[in-house]
Amino acid sequence: MYRTHTCGELRISHIGQQVMLSGWVQRIRNLGAMTFIDLRDRYGVTQIVIDESSSSAVKDIADRLGREFVVQVKGIVIERASKNSKLATGDIEVKADVINMLNISEIPPFTIEDDTDGGDELRMRYRYLDLRRNTVKNALLLRHRMAQEVRKYLDHQNFIEVETPFLIKSTPEGARDFVVPSRMHPGEFYALPQSPQTFKQLLMVAGFDRYFQIVKCFRDEDLRADRQPEFTQIDCEMSFVEREDVLNTFEGLIKHLFLQVKGINFTEPFPRMSYSEAMERFGSDKPDLRFGMEFIELGGMLKGKGFGVFDNAEYIGGICVQGCAEYTRKQMDELTEFVKRPQVGASGLVYIRYNADGTVKSTIDKFYTSEDLMSVANKMGAKLGDLILILAGAKNKTLSALSELRLEMGNRLGLRTKDVFVPLWVVDFPLLEWDDEAQRFFAMHHPFTSPHPEDIHLFKTDPASIRANAYDLVINGVEIGGGSIRIFDRELQQTMFDALGFTKEEAEKQFGFLLNAFRYGAPPHGGIAFGFDRLCALFGGSDSIRDYIAFPKNNAGRDVMIDSPSYISQQQLNELSIEIRRKE
Ligand code: AMO
Repeated sequence: MYRTHTCGELRISHIGQQVMLSGWVQRIRNLGAMTFIDLRDRYGVTQIVIDESSSSAVKDIADRLGREFVVQVKGIVIERASKNSKLATGDIEVKADVINMLNISEIPPFTIEDDTDGGDELRMRYRYLDLRRNTVKNALLLRHRMAQEVRKYLDHQNFIEVETPFLIKSTPEGARDFVVPSRMHPGEFYALPQSPQTFKQLLMVAGFDRYFQIVKCFRDEDLRADRQPEFTQIDCEMSFVEREDVLNTFEGLIKHLFLQVKGINFTEPFPRMSYSEAMERFGSDKPDLRFGMEFIELGGMLKGKGFGVFDNAEYIGGICVQGCAEYTRKQMDELTEFVKRPQVGASGLVYIRYNADGTVKSTIDKFYTSEDLMSVANKMGAKLGDLILILAGAKNKTLSALSELRLEMGNRLGLRTKDVFVPLWVVDFPLLEWDDEAQRFFAMHHPFTSPHPEDIHLFKTDPASIRANAYDLVINGVEIGGGSIRIFDRELQQTMFDALGFTKEEAEKQFGFLLNAFRYGAPPHGGIAFGFDRLCALFGGSDSIRDYIAFPKNNAGRDVMIDSPSYISQQQLNELSIEIRRKE
């Protein structure tokens, strides 16, 4: 027997009890007459004390202990003279009668404390040590709790958890596939699923009615703080449902999680906004609604006064930033630099200061009278002391740049606080997206997303304006989940493939198994998938999903701990009939 209690368990009520604890040595303080050891396990830290009355064997072992040694301590629980209110076990300590050294440890490459001296790369290389730290450990405990609550809610709603295969055929989710060569079929490859999309639809054909899975998905795409090459979805599908049914069911799931995990009770329905409205008002299909700063279109007011940049712009839009009229020249230069970054992509920034004394001052005074500028300020709803920021250019590019600027201002003004959660359903996405390079339409979601019933007639005349029966859940500007009502009618599916420029043969080759299944009575169905890592990061108050993944990849897609990806042996290559073309 290694322990009677955990290191997070003992309280005043245990005083006088003989206990046994096992754990890691977090810290040792040798004060001469007394030695204190902080003993840590998953559950907490307990102070162990060795004093003059302790046996020489105990003193001897205590002298030889180092950080991260694994020990077993037997002793008696006593009340602490100086209590530590920051520690759950801070009222007591254990006076050691016996210390068994269960294992020694090398000096860890960084201190395993909340405030560590280890850099990112080092902690990733020794992730198993990083996981001993409270912040990282707590992130995984949160993830565990959330997974349990997801299962509880969905099980209660009659969803069944079904596993789907990882070695599959390419799924059409729009990213690149990770592929796995087949030894038994030289030259042939499996693809790892970008999502279980086609399988969950097959499960609906099979009559399972309500499916879910907390499942790994694999996408070979450029990485960001909220993207990993392998990530986890809460993947769901339902039969005999319309959009309303899906939204209600999964709004219920998210509300359940907020209530159970964070104690936040959303009593109102989540608001909804169409894609086009989100774009016009916030320049983004995932607007952060924790703050306002909505876009105001200013073309009608600002064109035709001889300012070439505006006169030639397809779109002119502005945001009103409260209380920033007194931004210094330096701050304005910073903002101009910000919008000119390639990732933002504006060519310049125009501003109007609505000064506290009621005057207006702008970079474009030459072309506009004070009255002109004042009417812009009025249209923007500006108050004394506000700053108006204006971008102009090609519409889509300018909307997106203004969206970045809005988020930047939100950050600067501290309006994007982590403890406020504002959910939003974005609905009615475009079904199709034109790709100039490929000169064809692509499915914005995937080829099985059904069009809005009222828009089906537009396939012949105006495919670009067909709305999809698709939806995203956005919380605080993060796309947390997305899904759609599916096409279950073969004729409509064919129309969709035609619009995407698939020949019958191509469609047959890529999705023949699904189309075949649809011959045997596919029920109306629809579903959604949530980014589980993103949901955890959101709940935990972090921008990076890496913190919520036990063994994540770095920004270059590498696992620096196990050193992957890595080369494989010539023998393995031979078995797989693969020849590597080495770069010169
Ligand atoms: P979608 O592609 O929108 O839909 O993915 C669903 C959700 O998964 C999360 N996500 C990611 N999280 C971390 N890293 C990534 N690389 C990554 N990519 C996506 C996002 C996203 O909202 N099969 C459809 C769902 C459906 O139609 O039911 C699908 O996969 O939070």
